[in-house]
Amino acid sequence: MKKPPLLSVNQLKTHFYLDKNRVAKAVDGVSFTVSPGETVAIVGESGSGKSITALSIMQLIEKPGKVVEGSIHLHDKEISNLPSKQMTKLRGNEIAMIFQEPMTALNPVFTIGNQIVEMLRKHRKMEKKQAKIEAINLLKTVGISRAEEVVNEYPHQLSGGMRQRAMIAMAISCNPKLLIADEPTTALDVTIQAQILDLMVEMKEKFNMALLLITHDLGVVSEYADRIIVMYGGQVVEEAKAKELLRTTEHPYTKGLLESLPNLKEDVDRLGTIKGTVPPAYDLPSGCRFYDRCPFAMEKCKQTNPPLYQINDNHTVRCYLHEKEDIK
Ligand SMILES: Nc1ncnc2c1ncn2[C@@H]1O[C@H](COP(=O)(O)OP(=O)(O)O)[C@@H](O)[C@H]1O
Ligand SMILES: [Mg+2]
Repeated sequence: MKKPPLLSVNQLKTHFYLDKNRVAKAVDGVSFTVSPGETVAIVGESGSGKSITALSIMQLIEKPGKVVEGSIHLHDKEISNLPSKQMTKLRGNEIAMIFQEPMTALNPVFTIGNQIVEMLRKHRKMEKKQAKIEAINLLKTVGISRAEEVVNEYPHQLSGGMRQRAMIAMAISCNPKLLIADEPTTALDVTIQAQILDLMVEMKEKFNMALLLITHDLGVVSEYADRIIVMYGGQVVEEAKAKELLRTTEHPYTKGLLESLPNLKEDVDRLGTIKGTVPPAYDLPSGCRFYDRCPFAMEKCKQTNPPLYQINDNHTVRCYLHEKEDIK
């Protein structure tokens, strides 16, 4: 039997009120779930609404942005309207998030150790001395061999990869059930990228977490994710189990993403990239949001935005080429 979801996002809409006449619909009716222990990837080009989805879950949307519709449940608990004090407690304890550039999430004026110690004192009510020992243990757990030294170092003294390891140590310090990683390896060298992804998967298994992995690079997640959600123009356009999505890709946009990946077998650099750009969130077309870039576009696609069609229990696609299927 399928486990009930850990996280369940339902019809989420997060809009930015830019000025009197312009509303940026950054996230525009997104639904998905993450089960305990599962690795779910959200992919899509820059500007498709991935980060705003994650920040909405964390209640970290700032003005002029606002979650205007939908619900977010952690197990059975609605968390989109939690008072800020309760949300602060939940962030860290139950959901932790790591970002592309750990320099912005780490405080430059405190040592790595200090920042982990703070988390442990605040969330796990540890004594200072005990927390420092635990901080060193955590740094060792994430593969930092000089943990006794690194604990006394400042963020700028570490390499990008080491900083991301330290961020992961901080994120797992309170044993969250869900780790959200927004482009965690985008700023890193290719060789380090794989190490950090491997580490996250190792930590996920060791600490029994679920992982929501956000990236613009379908190539990065294909071997790590159980399920892949493809976003475009603030909406989900395709979702399936990872293997199925890669094998039987249905949405023309997902096909485009796959075709633009470097081909590892033959020695070619890049196949064609998808022409054009993601529509701006304040100026979305009324029809399919991928219409002007789609090689299969029909007249109908220009008129109305297609709903999500259900190809099978685990596979949905927002495209009129699948009109004969049931609407989800
Ligand atoms: N603070 C903001 N004010 C106005 N628009 C925003 C803001 N943050 C994000 N957006 C818009 O929301 C859309 C989605 O952004 P984002 O979620 O950051 O995309 P992604 O993470 O997929 O690259 C983009 O069109 C972006 O311009
Ligand atoms: Mg982003």
